[in-house]
Amino acid sequence: MQARRIAVWNPKGGVGKTSVAVNLAAVLAENGLPVLLVDLDPQGSATQWCGGEREAEPGKALLAALLAGGTIDAIARPSAVRGLDVVGSGPAMYDAERHLALEPIAPDTRLRGLLETAGARWKVVLVDCPPQMGRLVTNALAACGEVLVPIADAMSLAGLGTLVQTVAAVQHHVNPELRIGGFILSRERERLRVARDIRKALGEGFGELVFGPSIHECVAVMEAPSHGEPVTRYAPRSRAADDYRALAAEVFAREVTHG
Ligand SMILES: Nc1ncnc2c1ncn2[C@@H]1O[C@H](COP(=O)(O)OP(=O)(O)O)[C@@H](O)[C@H]1O
Ligand SMILES: [Mg+2]
Repeated sequence: MQARRIAVWNPKGGVGKTSVAVNLAAVLAENGLPVLLVDLDPQGSATQWCGGEREAEPGKALLAALLAGGTIDAIARPSAVRGLDVVGSGPAMYDAERHLALEPIAPDTRLRGLLETAGARWKVVLVDCPPQMGRLVTNALAACGEVLVPIADAMSLAGLGTLVQTVAAVQHHVNPELRIGGFILSRERERLRVARDIRKALGEGFGELVFGPSIHECVAVMEAPSHGEPVTRYAPRSRAADDYRALAAEVFAREVTHG
């Protein structure tokens, strides 16, 4: 059975994509599911956070695999979290957009091809996307069955037009199976009126696609990366750790309902 493949994307930066990708991946792995986290962002934040052993030139192996082909097994590495493997990114991946733009054949489905080599090794693949629209993002959307969209504040709603259009274009041209898996309030300050306004606006636009469990703003989420641990391990009793466990349960439950 192929793994369930989930892209984490919002065209706005700093909305919690990497936090959601890493922490969700970690909770799913803690629950016994073998998980692969693919870091597609040349900034390499997810890789630095939970990358485990370091590559000499972070991102180089992923870039080579996207351009020349190869297997995902060859470039996946164990992370610091048991059951979670990582395909790392880093500065070498800054060349990916330019190189992919020059590829005459299948420039948008390179990642899909790579993930298809995975067989049954992982049950879930999560892809942490860069914000800006480009070939890396289309590769992620072409390779995944769903996209999860973190929303941190009112500003992160601004990119949703782009997101919906991009998802529709990818569905039409490359990946008819792609759907929006859900919106995650990734940094909620529930006492603020603006937080309630955001949930209401999202609910009006997207209804049940808005996840019930949100991630509250919590300093442990900010601190965890510099300790190289997901929040559920860095601060297992924090509110955010509870939130991530609740979110993971719902992400998992939705898989069951959909299919
Ligand atoms: N629930 C949260 N509570 C507090 N800080 C958060 C939370 N979620 C994300 N952050 C912080 O917000 C910043 C941006 O998050 P990040 O996951 O890197 O976003 P992106 O990948 O979209 O750029 C980081 O400093 C991160 O630690
Ligand atoms: Mg990020």
